[in-house]
Amino acid sequence: MADTLSASEDGRNLVYHATRSKGWTKTETSLWIEDAHTSRATLKRFWQGKAIDRHTFQEICRVAGVNWEEVATPQPQTEAAHPPAMTLKPEPRHSPWIPSLDCTGTRWVGRTATLANLTDRLTHTTRVLSLVGITGIGKTSLAQQLLTDRDLQAAFPNPITISFNSESPSFDIVIHTLLGQQKYDAKSQSEQTAIHDRALIQALIAKLQSKPYLLVFDMLETCLTADEQGQHRFKEPIFEQFFSQILQAESIASRVIVTSQDQLPVLAEGRYQERIHQELLTGLTSSEAIALFQQWQIEAATPTEADCLQRIIAVYEGHPLALQVIAGEMSDAPFDGEILAYWSEYGHEVETVEAIKADPQLDARTDQPRLDRYTVRLKDLVKQRVEKTFQRLYEANSIAGLLLCKNAVARIPTERKAWLFQIRVFPSEAQEAAFELLQRRFLINAVQYKHRVRYQLHCLIRRVALDALDHITEIVESPGTHP
Ligand SMILES: Nc1ncnc2c1ncn2[C@@H]1O[C@H](COP(=O)(O)OP(=O)(O)OP(=O)(O)O)[C@@H](O)[C@H]1O
Ligand SMILES: [Mg+2]
Repeated sequence: MADTLSASEDGRNLVYHATRSKGWTKTETSLWIEDAHTSRATLKRFWQGKAIDRHTFQEICRVAGVNWEEVATPQPQTEAAHPPAMTLKPEPRHSPWIPSLDCTGTRWVGRTATLANLTDRLTHTTRVLSLVGITGIGKTSLAQQLLTDRDLQAAFPNPITISFNSESPSFDIVIHTLLGQQKYDAKSQSEQTAIHDRALIQALIAKLQSKPYLLVFDMLETCLTADEQGQHRFKEPIFEQFFSQILQAESIASRVIVTSQDQLPVLAEGRYQERIHQELLTGLTSSEAIALFQQWQIEAATPTEADCLQRIIAVYEGHPLALQVIAGEMSDAPFDGEILAYWSEYGHEVETVEAIKADPQLDARTDQPRLDRYTVRLKDLVKQRVEKTFQRLYEANSIAGLLLCKNAVARIPTERKAWLFQIRVFPSEAQEAAFELLQRRFLINAVQYKHRVRYQLHCLIRRVALDALDHITEIVESPGTHP
């Protein structure tokens, strides 16, 4: 039996998500170290995947609530010799056949009143809930939180998530997911006649009546199109029929949660108002955003630091994705979580945005506010923020920039080795370093599927990276410019 153990990549991810789901901040991490009778230096080695004392390793996992055998790098000769671990496995957050939307949901903070209100609505009269707001504001994460809500799980124990984040999103995916391959083939063979659509809708509604499903339609804006007046309608009318039937049915066992950057068209001619609810998401409150920074281990120790953090939160109006990429830069070298060090380097950028926002002529220059209270400003600011972050990442490590860009092509989450395959021309240490840099800067999200961890980009980061793809590929991969 080896005296030491080291944590595998997947194992570290398990521990990472377990501690995130408990919402551990610096304080709890200190208690973790204490309870496991270890030191910060050993915990650091654990995170780095380096060998540490076997007993300490098991204690670290025990306190985190994770089975150490799932965390340790496999050691074939000892595997058979050991009885199963005594620690309990953490309960899976979802049924194994449902992929979690996004593991970063485990970092969730705030929106408590909204969650309680929406849960209450869904367990009562609301049949279709639409979560709307600008990109990165937290719609998918909120849907994820609702899926894990105990009351909703009890009332609607059959979760199904359908993402419309595909090259050519269409209603076919709804048919395919709910009715299976058979009906799907039947539809594609025939013309999309009205009769056929009606029969399909009936079959879908019957399915939703058969069991209490909690359906999530993620990124439904991809199935909408705007007319000259800026009103949205579905590209395929069958969507409207589907939703209208859900609203019109005398009773329905299931519920649908939609996330969309654009407002849904009027459904069922605006009748059944109590059965449909739109929740417009705005940024996090200041105290929620402070709590979010704490999750990333960034805490103000002095009033000056608190003021800097507040100003960052204020200019980005509590936008979680913007704050996430800032926290990623702040946590990484050379700042290592030092708020003032970050401020002295980049505080001027925040001041510039403050000045722009204070300009009284700004409102006249920007487009009219659309569905939400935001002008286009915040959306633009967030995009610029992500672009700057990307630029700085590329300057710090061009291979990491290339890694991000090349993997932005894929919409679906892929495994780490598939990510690294894209930069296989570089030495393996450089590949590893680039991947870890993306993780440290919170630019990639881990997604768990059937106990395997895959990685994906938020769609805004993906778009920014795709824009840079050609340019960066040319520079980084052209002969003579390799770092
Ligand atoms: N309340 C929250 N607590 C912690 N993190 C959050 C919260 N809300 C959002 N985030 C984080 O912000 C990022 C963006 O959120 P999310 O992907 O849910 O946005 P979105 O509104 O669905 O964006 P899009 O319209 O582009 O799909 C995610 O990484 C998520 O983890
Ligand atoms: Mg989303």
